[in-house]
Amino acid sequence: MGLLGNAVACMLPIAVVAQAYSAVSLNRRDYTSLAQTNAPLIVYHPQELYYASSIEYMLPHYANLQNSSGVVQPGAPPVFNVTNLDYLFQEGIDASNLYLSVAGQPKGSPYIPAGYEYLYSSKTIGTTAPIYAFIVPKANDIVDIYYWQFCPYNLGKNAPIVGWTGDHVGDLEYMMVRTINGTAATVDYHAHSNTGSTYLVTDPTVTWSGTHPIVYTANGSHGMWPSVGSHVYKQILGIYDLTDETGNGAQWPTWENVYPINYLENGGYTGDQAWLNFNGYFGNPGDTSCLFYSIVGECEFSGGPNAPNRDFTGPPLYTLASKNTANPNYSVYTFQVAASAQVWAAANGITYVAAHQHCVASPSSESTDNWAFVPIVASAAVTSYNITTARCATDFSRYPSAYEVGLCTSAAQSACVTTSGLRNIKEYVGNSAPTHPDKEIIVNDLDIWTWSY
Ligand SMILES: *[C@@H]1O[C@H](CO)[C@@H](O)[C@H](O)[C@H]1NC(C)=O
Ligand SMILES: *[C@@H]1O[C@H](CO)[C@@H](O)[C@H](O)[C@H]1NC(C)=O
Ligand SMILES: *[C@@H]1O[C@H](CO)[C@@H](O)[C@H](O)[C@H]1NC(C)=O
Ligand SMILES: *[C@@H]1O[C@H](CO)[C@@H](O)[C@H](O)[C@H]1NC(C)=O
Ligand SMILES: *[C@@H]1O[C@H](CO)[C@@H](O)[C@H](O)[C@H]1NC(C)=O
Ligand SMILES: *[C@@H]1O[C@H](CO)[C@@H](O)[C@H](O)[C@H]1NC(C)=O
Repeated sequence: MGLLGNAVACMLPIAVVAQAYSAVSLNRRDYTSLAQTNAPLIVYHPQELYYASSIEYMLPHYANLQNSSGVVQPGAPPVFNVTNLDYLFQEGIDASNLYLSVAGQPKGSPYIPAGYEYLYSSKTIGTTAPIYAFIVPKANDIVDIYYWQFCPYNLGKNAPIVGWTGDHVGDLEYMMVRTINGTAATVDYHAHSNTGSTYLVTDPTVTWSGTHPIVYTANGSHGMWPSVGSHVYKQILGIYDLTDETGNGAQWPTWENVYPINYLENGGYTGDQAWLNFNGYFGNPGDTSCLFYSIVGECEFSGGPNAPNRDFTGPPLYTLASKNTANPNYSVYTFQVAASAQVWAAANGITYVAAHQHCVASPSSESTDNWAFVPIVASAAVTSYNITTARCATDFSRYPSAYEVGLCTSAAQSACVTTSGLRNIKEYVGNSAPTHPDKEIIVNDLDIWTWSY
Protein backbone atom coordinates (compact mmCIF):
# COMPACT_ATOMS: atom_id res chain seq x y z
CA MET A 1 0.00 0.00 0.00
CA GLY A 2 1.71 3.14 -0.99
CA LEU A 3 -0.39 6.27 -1.11
CA LEU A 4 1.10 9.14 0.78
CA GLY A 5 -1.67 11.38 2.04
CA ASN A 6 0.19 14.57 2.74
CA ALA A 7 -2.65 17.04 2.86
CA VAL A 8 -1.98 19.75 5.38
CA ALA A 9 -5.01 21.60 6.64
CA CYS A 10 -4.86 25.34 6.46
CA MET A 11 -7.21 27.31 8.63
CA LEU A 12 -7.46 30.71 7.06
CA PRO A 13 -8.02 31.77 3.47
CA ILE A 14 -4.67 33.12 2.32
CA ALA A 15 -2.83 30.14 3.71
CA VAL A 16 -0.87 27.90 1.46
CA VAL A 17 1.00 24.88 2.76
CA ALA A 18 4.09 25.92 4.64
CA GLN A 19 7.19 23.88 4.11
CA ALA A 20 10.78 23.76 5.12
CA TYR A 21 13.04 23.98 2.13
CA SER A 22 14.52 26.54 -0.13
CA ALA A 23 16.08 25.64 -3.44
CA VAL A 24 19.09 27.86 -2.76
CA SER A 25 20.12 25.54 0.06
CA LEU A 26 20.49 22.60 -2.33
CA ASN A 27 24.16 21.82 -2.19
CA ARG A 28 25.23 19.65 -5.08
CA ARG A 29 27.84 17.77 -3.12
CA ASP A 30 28.03 14.06 -3.67
CA TYR A 31 26.18 12.58 -0.72
CA THR A 32 26.40 8.97 -1.94
CA SER A 33 28.56 7.79 0.95
CA LEU A 34 26.24 9.52 3.46
CA ALA A 35 23.33 7.67 1.85
CA GLN A 36 25.23 4.37 2.05
CA THR A 37 26.29 4.84 5.68
CA ASN A 38 22.73 5.47 6.83
CA ALA A 39 20.90 3.03 4.52
CA PRO A 40 18.63 0.60 6.40
CA LEU A 41 18.84 -3.13 6.87
CA ILE A 42 15.43 -4.21 5.57
CA VAL A 43 14.10 -7.45 7.08
CA TYR A 44 11.27 -9.33 5.35
CA HIS A 45 8.61 -11.54 6.91
CA PRO A 46 9.58 -15.24 6.69
CA GLN A 47 6.42 -15.88 4.61
CA GLU A 48 6.95 -12.97 2.22
CA LEU A 49 6.27 -13.77 -1.43
CA TYR A 50 6.41 -10.29 -2.94
CA TYR A 51 9.99 -9.02 -2.75
CA ALA A 52 11.56 -5.81 -3.98
CA SER A 53 12.82 -5.30 -7.50
CA SER A 54 14.41 -2.54 -9.51
CA ILE A 55 12.27 -0.20 -11.58
CA GLU A 56 14.15 -1.46 -14.68
CA TYR A 57 12.95 -4.99 -13.90
CA MET A 58 9.32 -3.92 -13.83
CA LEU A 59 9.12 -1.35 -16.63
CA PRO A 60 8.91 -3.80 -19.59
CA HIS A 61 6.04 -5.62 -17.83
CA TYR A 62 3.81 -2.53 -17.96
CA ALA A 63 1.73 -2.85 -21.13
CA ASN A 64 0.41 0.70 -21.33
CA LEU A 65 -0.54 3.95 -19.64
CA GLN A 66 -4.21 4.26 -18.65
CA ASN A 67 -6.36 6.94 -17.09
CA SER A 68 -8.39 6.15 -13.98
CA SER A 69 -11.28 4.84 -16.11
CA GLY A 70 -8.92 2.25 -17.61
CA VAL A 71 -8.77 3.94 -21.03
CA VAL A 72 -5.40 3.32 -22.68
CA GLN A 73 -3.62 6.56 -23.63
CA PRO A 74 -2.25 6.60 -27.20
CA GLY A 75 1.31 7.62 -28.02
CA ALA A 76 3.26 5.62 -25.43
CA PRO A 77 6.50 3.90 -26.43
CA PRO A 78 6.07 0.19 -27.24
CA VAL A 79 8.25 -0.83 -24.30
CA PHE A 80 8.78 1.42 -21.27
CA ASN A 81 12.33 1.91 -20.06
CA VAL A 82 14.22 4.27 -17.74
CA THR A 83 14.92 6.80 -20.47
CA ASN A 84 11.53 6.91 -22.24
CA LEU A 85 9.10 6.71 -19.31
CA ASP A 86 9.09 10.51 -19.04
CA TYR A 87 7.96 11.11 -22.64
CA LEU A 88 4.94 13.10 -21.44
CA PHE A 89 7.10 15.24 -19.12
CA GLN A 90 9.34 15.98 -22.12
CA GLU A 91 6.24 17.14 -24.02
CA GLY A 92 5.18 19.32 -21.08
CA ILE A 93 2.12 17.11 -20.39
CA ASP A 94 1.13 16.33 -16.81
CA ALA A 95 0.95 12.56 -16.23
CA SER A 96 -0.11 12.76 -12.59
CA ASN A 97 -3.52 11.14 -13.25
CA LEU A 98 -2.18 8.31 -15.41
CA TYR A 99 -1.45 4.71 -14.41
CA LEU A 100 1.30 2.41 -15.68
CA SER A 101 -0.68 -0.80 -16.16
CA VAL A 102 -0.12 -4.46 -16.78
CA ALA A 103 -2.71 -6.36 -18.85
CA GLY A 104 -5.70 -7.47 -16.79
CA GLN A 105 -6.23 -7.09 -13.04
CA PRO A 106 -4.03 -9.67 -11.30
CA LYS A 107 -5.39 -10.42 -7.83
CA GLY A 108 -2.89 -12.05 -5.51
CA SER A 109 -5.16 -13.14 -2.73
CA PRO A 110 -3.06 -14.87 -1.70
CA TYR A 111 -1.44 -16.36 -4.84
CA ILE A 112 -0.92 -14.60 -8.12
CA PRO A 113 -2.63 -16.09 -11.20
CA ALA A 114 -0.65 -18.04 -13.80
CA GLY A 115 1.25 -15.77 -16.18
CA TYR A 116 1.91 -13.12 -13.55
CA GLU A 117 4.68 -14.91 -11.63
CA TYR A 118 7.06 -12.03 -12.39
CA LEU A 119 5.14 -10.01 -9.78
CA TYR A 120 6.71 -12.15 -7.06
CA SER A 121 10.00 -10.53 -8.10
CA SER A 122 13.14 -12.23 -6.99
CA LYS A 123 14.39 -13.46 -3.66
CA THR A 124 17.89 -12.37 -4.58
CA ILE A 125 17.19 -8.99 -3.04
CA GLY A 126 20.25 -6.84 -2.59
CA THR A 127 21.77 -7.93 -5.84
CA THR A 128 18.85 -7.15 -8.15
CA ALA A 129 16.96 -4.49 -6.19
CA PRO A 130 18.39 -1.06 -5.43
CA ILE A 131 17.14 1.09 -2.59
CA TYR A 132 16.06 4.44 -4.06
CA ALA A 133 17.61 7.16 -1.91
CA PHE A 134 16.32 10.70 -2.40
CA ILE A 135 18.92 13.02 -0.91
CA VAL A 136 17.51 16.34 0.24
CA PRO A 137 19.85 18.96 1.74
CA LYS A 138 17.99 21.52 3.86
CA ALA A 139 18.84 24.52 6.01
CA ASN A 140 20.55 24.19 9.42
CA ASP A 141 23.04 21.54 8.30
CA ILE A 142 20.31 18.98 7.63
CA VAL A 143 20.44 16.33 4.92
CA ASP A 144 17.29 14.19 4.88
CA ILE A 145 17.55 10.87 3.03
CA TYR A 146 14.29 9.20 1.98
CA TYR A 147 14.85 5.49 1.29
CA TRP A 148 12.24 3.87 -0.96
CA GLN A 149 11.80 0.21 -1.76
CA PHE A 150 9.90 -0.66 -4.92
CA CYS A 151 8.07 -3.99 -5.13
CA PRO A 152 6.23 -5.16 -8.26
CA TYR A 153 3.19 -6.13 -6.18
CA ASN A 154 1.31 -5.36 -2.96
CA LEU A 155 -0.77 -8.12 -1.39
CA GLY A 156 -3.86 -6.69 0.30
CA LYS A 157 -5.54 -7.74 3.54
CA ASN A 158 -8.28 -10.25 4.21
CA ALA A 159 -10.87 -8.68 6.52
CA PRO A 160 -14.09 -10.28 7.79
CA ILE A 161 -17.22 -9.53 5.69
CA VAL A 162 -15.33 -7.19 3.33
CA GLY A 163 -12.92 -9.94 2.20
CA TRP A 164 -9.65 -9.26 0.40
CA THR A 165 -8.95 -5.57 -0.20
CA GLY A 166 -6.01 -3.59 -1.44
CA ASP A 167 -4.12 -5.83 -3.87
CA HIS A 168 -2.28 -3.64 -6.31
CA VAL A 169 0.40 -3.70 -8.98
CA GLY A 170 3.49 -1.75 -7.89
CA ASP A 171 4.29 -0.86 -4.30
CA LEU A 172 6.42 1.94 -2.90
CA GLU A 173 7.18 2.37 0.79
CA TYR A 174 9.76 4.57 2.47
CA MET A 175 11.65 5.28 5.64
CA MET A 176 13.70 8.42 6.25
CA VAL A 177 16.93 9.19 8.07
CA ARG A 178 17.62 12.80 9.04
CA THR A 179 21.30 13.62 9.28
CA ILE A 180 22.56 16.80 10.93
CA ASN A 181 26.12 17.81 10.21
CA GLY A 182 26.67 14.39 8.63
CA THR A 183 25.43 12.33 11.58
CA ALA A 184 22.13 10.46 11.85
CA ALA A 185 19.80 12.30 14.25
CA THR A 186 16.32 10.83 13.74
CA VAL A 187 14.65 7.95 11.89
CA ASP A 188 11.13 8.01 10.43
CA TYR A 189 9.41 4.65 10.03
CA HIS A 190 6.45 4.89 7.70
CA ALA A 191 3.64 2.62 6.53
CA HIS A 192 0.75 3.22 4.15
CA SER A 193 -1.30 6.42 4.24
CA ASN A 194 0.97 8.36 6.58
CA THR A 195 1.03 6.00 9.54
CA GLY A 196 4.37 6.23 11.25
CA SER A 197 6.55 8.12 13.64
CA THR A 198 9.87 9.88 14.12
CA TYR A 199 12.41 8.42 16.56
CA LEU A 200 15.60 9.78 18.05
CA VAL A 201 18.52 7.58 17.02
CA THR A 202 19.13 6.96 20.73
CA ASP A 203 15.58 5.65 21.26
CA PRO A 204 15.83 1.96 22.21
CA THR A 205 12.95 1.28 19.77
CA VAL A 206 15.41 1.84 16.92
CA THR A 207 17.76 -1.11 16.49
CA TRP A 208 20.91 -1.12 14.41
CA SER A 209 23.18 -3.16 12.25
CA GLY A 210 26.30 -1.04 12.61
CA THR A 211 25.38 2.40 11.27
CA HIS A 212 22.25 1.01 9.58
CA PRO A 213 18.80 1.31 11.20
CA ILE A 214 16.87 -1.97 11.04
CA VAL A 215 13.49 -1.84 9.32
CA TYR A 216 10.95 -4.67 9.36
CA THR A 217 8.87 -4.61 6.20
CA ALA A 218 5.34 -5.98 6.39
CA ASN A 219 4.34 -9.31 4.85
CA GLY A 220 2.93 -8.61 1.41
CA SER A 221 2.27 -4.89 1.85
CA HIS A 222 5.78 -3.69 2.81
CA GLY A 223 4.97 -1.01 5.43
CA MET A 224 8.18 -0.14 7.30
CA TRP A 225 8.18 -0.76 11.08
CA PRO A 226 10.83 -0.63 13.82
CA SER A 227 9.98 -4.02 15.36
CA VAL A 228 8.73 -7.57 14.81
CA GLY A 229 5.05 -8.18 15.48
CA SER A 230 1.52 -7.14 14.50
CA HIS A 231 1.01 -3.46 13.73
CA VAL A 232 -2.50 -2.06 13.34
CA TYR A 233 -2.46 0.83 10.89
CA LYS A 234 -6.12 1.36 10.02
CA GLN A 235 -9.64 0.37 11.02
CA ILE A 236 -12.35 -0.33 8.50
CA LEU A 237 -16.10 -0.23 9.11
CA GLY A 238 -15.08 1.14 12.52
CA ILE A 239 -14.33 -2.37 13.84
CA TYR A 240 -11.91 -4.42 11.78
CA ASP A 241 -8.23 -3.73 12.28
CA LEU A 242 -6.02 -3.82 9.23
CA THR A 243 -2.73 -5.22 10.48
CA ASP A 244 0.80 -5.35 9.13
CA GLU A 245 2.72 -8.48 10.17
CA THR A 246 6.49 -8.21 10.43
CA GLY A 247 8.98 -10.99 11.20
CA ASN A 248 12.58 -12.16 11.01
CA GLY A 249 12.91 -13.41 7.43
CA ALA A 250 15.30 -12.55 4.62
CA GLN A 251 17.63 -9.62 5.26
CA TRP A 252 18.40 -6.98 2.67
CA PRO A 253 21.58 -4.94 3.35
CA THR A 254 20.41 -2.02 1.20
CA TRP A 255 23.74 -0.16 1.49
CA GLU A 256 25.20 -2.65 -0.99
CA ASN A 257 22.98 -1.24 -3.74
CA VAL A 258 22.05 2.39 -3.08
CA TYR A 259 20.59 4.34 -6.02
CA PRO A 260 21.38 7.95 -5.03
CA ILE A 261 19.03 10.65 -6.29
CA ASN A 262 19.84 14.35 -5.94
CA TYR A 263 16.30 15.51 -5.22
CA LEU A 264 14.93 17.99 -7.76
CA GLU A 265 11.81 19.73 -6.51
CA ASN A 266 10.42 20.33 -10.01
CA GLY A 267 11.78 17.32 -11.87
CA GLY A 268 14.27 17.63 -14.69
CA TYR A 269 16.15 14.39 -14.04
CA THR A 270 18.34 13.29 -16.93
CA GLY A 271 19.95 10.19 -18.43
CA ASP A 272 19.20 6.93 -16.59
CA GLN A 273 17.27 8.91 -13.96
CA ALA A 274 14.81 10.40 -16.48
CA TRP A 275 12.15 7.89 -15.32
CA LEU A 276 11.91 9.99 -12.14
CA ASN A 277 10.20 12.73 -14.16
CA PHE A 278 7.18 10.45 -14.57
CA ASN A 279 4.72 11.67 -11.92
CA GLY A 280 1.86 9.19 -12.45
CA TYR A 281 1.12 5.88 -10.76
CA PHE A 282 3.27 2.74 -10.84
CA GLY A 283 0.36 0.30 -11.11
CA ASN A 284 -3.04 -0.20 -12.71
CA PRO A 285 -6.06 1.92 -11.75
CA GLY A 286 -8.16 0.27 -9.05
CA ASP A 287 -11.52 -1.45 -9.35
CA THR A 288 -14.29 0.74 -7.88
CA SER A 289 -17.25 -1.53 -8.57
CA CYS A 290 -17.26 -3.72 -5.45
CA LEU A 291 -19.98 -3.72 -2.81
CA PHE A 292 -17.92 -2.09 -0.07
CA TYR A 293 -16.09 0.47 -2.19
CA SER A 294 -18.08 3.44 -0.91
CA ILE A 295 -17.32 2.51 2.70
CA VAL A 296 -13.81 1.05 2.59
CA GLY A 297 -12.51 3.17 -0.30
CA GLU A 298 -10.97 0.24 -2.14
CA CYS A 299 -11.79 -3.15 -3.63
CA GLU A 300 -9.84 -6.39 -3.84
CA PHE A 301 -7.94 -4.88 -6.76
CA SER A 302 -6.95 -1.32 -5.89
CA GLY A 303 -4.92 1.44 -7.53
CA GLY A 304 -1.14 1.48 -7.78
CA PRO A 305 1.05 3.88 -5.79
CA ASN A 306 1.95 7.31 -7.03
CA ALA A 307 5.50 7.99 -8.12
CA PRO A 308 8.20 8.12 -5.44
CA ASN A 309 9.45 11.60 -6.33
CA ARG A 310 7.05 13.38 -4.01
CA ASP A 311 7.32 16.59 -2.02
CA PHE A 312 10.31 16.04 0.26
CA THR A 313 10.71 19.69 1.20
CA GLY A 314 8.91 19.34 4.53
CA PRO A 315 9.82 18.31 8.06
CA PRO A 316 9.90 14.73 9.40
CA LEU A 317 6.60 13.10 10.39
CA TYR A 318 7.00 14.58 13.90
CA THR A 319 8.82 17.62 15.24
CA LEU A 320 10.53 16.55 18.44
CA ALA A 321 10.05 18.35 21.76
CA SER A 322 11.40 18.09 25.29
CA LYS A 323 9.88 18.79 28.70
CA ASN A 324 10.07 22.40 29.89
CA THR A 325 11.72 21.84 33.24
CA ALA A 326 12.73 25.51 33.61
CA ASN A 327 9.17 26.80 33.86
CA PRO A 328 6.44 24.15 33.90
CA ASN A 329 3.65 26.67 33.37
CA TYR A 330 4.69 27.33 29.78
CA SER A 331 5.67 25.86 26.44
CA VAL A 332 8.44 27.54 24.46
CA TYR A 333 8.53 27.41 20.65
CA THR A 334 11.72 28.41 18.86
CA PHE A 335 11.41 28.37 15.08
CA GLN A 336 12.61 30.18 11.96
CA VAL A 337 10.58 32.00 9.35
CA ALA A 338 11.86 32.06 5.75
CA ALA A 339 13.12 35.24 4.15
CA SER A 340 10.35 35.16 1.52
CA ALA A 341 7.68 35.08 4.23
CA GLN A 342 9.31 38.01 6.03
CA VAL A 343 9.27 40.03 2.82
CA TRP A 344 5.64 39.12 2.16
CA ALA A 345 4.74 40.02 5.74
CA ALA A 346 6.40 43.44 5.48
CA ALA A 347 4.47 44.17 2.29
CA ASN A 348 1.14 43.08 3.76
CA GLY A 349 0.81 44.92 7.05
CA ILE A 350 1.86 41.95 9.21
CA THR A 351 3.09 43.08 12.61
CA TYR A 352 3.06 39.89 14.70
CA VAL A 353 4.15 36.28 14.50
CA ALA A 354 2.05 33.71 16.39
CA ALA A 355 2.72 30.28 17.81
CA HIS A 356 -0.44 28.17 17.93
CA GLN A 357 -0.23 25.12 20.19
CA HIS A 358 -2.83 22.35 19.83
CA CYS A 359 -3.60 20.33 22.94
CA VAL A 360 -5.38 17.03 22.34
CA ALA A 361 -7.48 15.41 25.05
CA SER A 362 -9.63 12.40 25.63
CA PRO A 363 -12.53 12.92 25.07
CA SER A 364 -11.66 14.96 22.00
CA SER A 365 -14.35 17.50 22.90
CA GLU A 366 -11.90 18.61 25.62
CA SER A 367 -9.13 19.40 23.12
CA THR A 368 -7.98 23.02 23.47
CA ASP A 369 -5.34 25.31 22.04
CA ASN A 370 -3.08 28.17 23.04
CA TRP A 371 -1.91 31.20 21.10
CA ALA A 372 0.95 33.59 21.79
CA PHE A 373 2.38 36.47 19.78
CA VAL A 374 5.61 38.41 19.36
CA PRO A 375 6.27 41.43 17.09
CA ILE A 376 7.62 40.44 13.69
CA VAL A 377 11.19 41.41 12.83
CA ALA A 378 11.35 43.70 9.81
CA SER A 379 14.10 41.74 8.09
CA ALA A 380 14.43 40.31 4.60
CA ALA A 381 16.36 37.34 5.96
CA VAL A 382 15.54 34.08 7.73
CA THR A 383 14.60 35.10 11.26
CA SER A 384 14.48 33.09 14.46
CA TYR A 385 11.55 33.54 16.85
CA ASN A 386 11.11 32.38 20.39
CA ILE A 387 7.48 32.36 21.56
CA THR A 388 6.20 31.30 24.96
CA THR A 389 2.62 29.99 25.19
CA ALA A 390 0.69 28.74 28.18
CA ARG A 391 1.09 25.02 28.80
CA CYS A 392 -1.87 22.78 27.96
CA ALA A 393 -4.54 23.16 30.67
CA THR A 394 -4.10 20.62 33.45
CA ASP A 395 -7.54 19.04 33.60
CA PHE A 396 -8.29 16.09 31.31
CA SER A 397 -5.43 14.30 29.60
CA ARG A 398 -4.38 17.20 27.41
CA TYR A 399 -0.93 17.39 25.90
CA PRO A 400 0.60 19.33 22.97
CA SER A 401 0.05 17.34 19.75
CA ALA A 402 0.86 19.87 17.05
CA TYR A 403 1.77 23.47 16.41
CA GLU A 404 1.66 25.99 13.63
CA VAL A 405 2.88 29.49 12.94
CA GLY A 406 0.64 32.47 12.16
CA LEU A 407 1.28 35.85 10.56
CA CYS A 408 -1.01 38.45 12.12
CA THR A 409 -1.88 42.13 11.83
CA SER A 410 -2.12 42.47 15.62
CA ALA A 411 -1.52 40.27 18.66
CA ALA A 412 -4.86 38.44 18.38
CA GLN A 413 -5.92 35.11 16.92
CA SER A 414 -8.63 36.80 14.83
CA ALA A 415 -5.97 39.07 13.29
CA CYS A 416 -3.89 36.22 11.85
CA VAL A 417 -4.24 36.43 8.10
CA THR A 418 -2.34 33.24 7.41
CA THR A 419 -1.45 30.15 9.37
CA SER A 420 1.02 27.61 8.23
CA GLY A 421 -0.49 24.14 8.50
CA LEU A 422 0.18 21.88 11.44
CA ARG A 423 3.38 20.11 12.38
CA ASN A 424 2.89 17.08 14.62
CA ILE A 425 4.77 17.14 17.91
CA LYS A 426 6.32 14.21 19.75
CA GLU A 427 7.89 14.73 23.17
CA TYR A 428 11.07 12.97 24.25
CA VAL A 429 12.18 12.69 27.87
CA GLY A 430 15.72 11.41 27.72
CA ASN A 431 15.82 8.77 25.00
CA SER A 432 12.16 7.72 25.19
CA ALA A 433 8.79 9.19 24.33
CA PRO A 434 6.64 9.18 27.49
CA THR A 435 3.30 7.33 27.31
CA HIS A 436 1.67 10.36 28.92
CA PRO A 437 3.40 13.40 27.42
CA ASP A 438 3.96 16.51 29.52
CA LYS A 439 1.73 19.56 29.19
CA GLU A 440 4.70 21.96 29.02
CA ILE A 441 7.26 21.47 26.29
CA ILE A 442 10.17 23.08 24.50
CA VAL A 443 10.31 22.89 20.72
CA ASN A 444 13.47 23.92 18.93
CA ASP A 445 12.43 23.49 15.31
CA LEU A 446 15.24 23.26 12.73
CA ASP A 447 12.80 23.12 9.76
CA ILE A 448 12.32 26.64 8.43
CA TRP A 449 8.71 27.73 7.96
CA THR A 450 8.02 29.00 4.45
CA TRP A 451 4.86 30.01 2.66
CA SER A 452 4.03 30.07 -1.01
CA TYR A 453 1.55 32.72 -2.07
C1 LIG B 1 2.18 -13.75 4.67
O1 LIG B 1 1.68 -13.65 3.35
C2 LIG B 1 1.45 -14.90 2.73
C3 LIG B 1 0.94 -14.64 1.34
O2 LIG B 1 1.89 -13.93 0.58
C4 LIG B 1 0.41 -15.68 3.52
O3 LIG B 1 0.24 -16.93 2.93
C5 LIG B 1 0.86 -15.81 4.96
O4 LIG B 1 -0.17 -16.42 5.71
C6 LIG B 1 1.17 -14.46 5.53
N1 LIG B 1 1.66 -14.61 6.89
C7 LIG B 1 1.15 -13.91 7.92
C8 LIG B 1 1.75 -14.17 9.26
O5 LIG B 1 0.26 -13.10 7.79
C1 LIG C 1 -10.35 8.51 -19.76
O1 LIG C 1 -10.21 8.75 -21.14
C2 LIG C 1 -11.45 8.62 -21.85
C3 LIG C 1 -11.14 8.78 -23.35
O2 LIG C 1 -10.39 9.94 -23.58
C4 LIG C 1 -12.43 9.67 -21.37
O3 LIG C 1 -13.67 9.51 -22.01
C5 LIG C 1 -12.61 9.50 -19.86
O4 LIG C 1 -13.45 10.54 -19.37
C6 LIG C 1 -11.28 9.54 -19.18
N1 LIG C 1 -11.47 9.31 -17.75
C7 LIG C 1 -11.04 10.17 -16.84
C8 LIG C 1 -11.34 9.82 -15.42
O5 LIG C 1 -10.47 11.20 -17.12
C1 LIG D 1 14.36 3.15 -24.35
O1 LIG D 1 13.54 2.98 -25.47
C2 LIG D 1 13.79 3.93 -26.50
C3 LIG D 1 12.75 3.71 -27.56
O2 LIG D 1 11.48 3.99 -27.06
C4 LIG D 1 15.20 3.77 -27.02
O3 LIG D 1 15.46 4.77 -28.01
C5 LIG D 1 16.16 3.94 -25.85
O4 LIG D 1 17.48 3.66 -26.29
C6 LIG D 1 15.82 2.98 -24.74
N1 LIG D 1 16.65 3.27 -23.56
C7 LIG D 1 17.25 2.31 -22.89
C8 LIG D 1 18.06 2.76 -21.70
O5 LIG D 1 17.16 1.13 -23.19
C1 LIG E 1 26.84 21.93 12.68
O1 LIG E 1 28.21 22.12 13.00
C2 LIG E 1 28.61 23.49 13.04
C3 LIG E 1 30.12 23.53 13.23
O2 LIG E 1 30.47 22.72 14.32
C4 LIG E 1 27.84 24.20 14.14
O3 LIG E 1 28.17 25.55 14.16
C5 LIG E 1 26.34 24.06 13.87
O4 LIG E 1 25.59 24.63 14.93
C6 LIG E 1 25.95 22.61 13.72
N1 LIG E 1 24.55 22.56 13.29
C7 LIG E 1 23.57 22.04 14.05
C8 LIG E 1 22.19 22.14 13.51
O5 LIG E 1 23.78 21.52 15.13
C1 LIG F 1 2.86 28.14 37.89
O1 LIG F 1 1.54 28.63 38.08
C2 LIG F 1 1.04 28.38 39.38
C3 LIG F 1 -0.43 28.78 39.41
O2 LIG F 1 -0.60 30.03 38.78
C4 LIG F 1 1.88 29.14 40.39
O3 LIG F 1 1.41 28.87 41.69
C5 LIG F 1 3.33 28.69 40.27
O4 LIG F 1 4.15 29.47 41.12
C6 LIG F 1 3.82 28.84 38.84
N1 LIG F 1 5.15 28.24 38.73
C7 LIG F 1 6.20 28.90 38.25
C8 LIG F 1 7.50 28.13 38.20
O5 LIG F 1 6.12 30.05 37.88
C1 LIG G 1 13.69 31.27 24.34
O1 LIG G 1 13.09 31.81 25.52
C2 LIG G 1 13.31 31.04 26.68
C3 LIG G 1 12.46 31.63 27.78
O2 LIG G 1 12.57 33.02 27.79
C4 LIG G 1 14.80 31.01 26.98
O3 LIG G 1 15.03 30.22 28.14
C5 LIG G 1 15.53 30.42 25.80
O4 LIG G 1 16.92 30.49 26.02
C6 LIG G 1 15.18 31.15 24.52
N1 LIG G 1 15.76 30.42 23.40
C7 LIG G 1 16.30 31.00 22.34
C8 LIG G 1 16.81 30.10 21.27
O5 LIG G 1 16.36 32.20 22.23
